Amino acid sequence: MVDIPKTMKAWVVTRAGKPQDVLELKNNWPTPPPPRTGEIMVRVSYAALNPGEVKIMGMALPFKVNTVAGMDFVGEVVQVGPSTPKSPSDVLVGMIVGGTIPLMSMWRGAGALSEYLVVPVDSVVEKPKGLKESVAAGLLGIAGQTNAVIIRAANLREGNKVLVNGASGGVGSISVQLLRGMGMHVTAVCSAKNEAFVRRQGAEEVCSL
Ligand SMILES: NC(=O)c1ccc[n+]([C@@H]2O[C@H](COP(=O)([O-])OP(=O)(O)OC[C@H]3O[C@@H](n4cnc5c(N)ncnc54)[C@H](OP(=O)(O)O)[C@@H]3O)[C@@H](O)[C@H]2O)c1
Repeated sequence: MVDIPKTMKAWVVTRAGKPQDVLELKNNWPTPPPPRTGEIMVRVSYAALNPGEVKIMGMALPFKVNTVAGMDFVGEVVQVGPSTPKSPSDVLVGMIVGGTIPLMSMWRGAGALSEYLVVPVDSVVEKPKGLKESVAAGLLGIAGQTNAVIIRAANLREGNKVLVNGASGGVGSISVQLLRGMGMHVTAVCSAKNEAFVRRQGAEEVCSL
């Protein structure tokens, strides 16, 4: 049984603005209450600020003030909420998982830039053994999850030819690598300055402007 402290360190949003101006490290931030049914508590080892959240942080949105920043994370599961027979969880204490903070949890104040967080169990996946935790924080967060959803929805198969628009960006550069790894032919669209980068990610053809 892991001993969870009552307070923790967390980077907290104090007002609207750029992260470097508005984030403050609090040493006595309340640790979230234990996970409820369908939730887990994670001890965070790596976290990442997401570009979308950085944009939100710049807006004067009162609900963002006094919340913990950060969306994407990797860490160890330290508690699993009581499960119901209808939704058995295959996430276990001690497992290293990665994921992203869902919007509803974010609005309630949860953030990845903290020592502990509580999220729905379905917002994480187990970290693959061969993947470093530091890399997994970027890959298993919202950009990676977006890719997983797109690739499943498109029902792509080995040998398909795929055009990736925005291939040099955070989402697109992961798409290029995943699609090539799955055996697809990738044509990337990006600015001329990023052509070499997208080729390094695996694009076979590039339409650059
Ligand atoms: N990052 C995430 O975690 C995430 C998750 C879910 C959804 N999204 C959404 O996915 C989209 C891409 O996000 P991102 O994080 O990948 O953004 P990003 O890193 O800023 O990349 C933007 C991409 O769009 C291209 N681009 C920019 N202006 C363009 C234009 N006028 N015409 C054609 N291409 C243009 C850029 O190409 P060049 O720079 O080479 O021109 C780059 O490849 C956004 O709508 C974002 O809200 C992002």
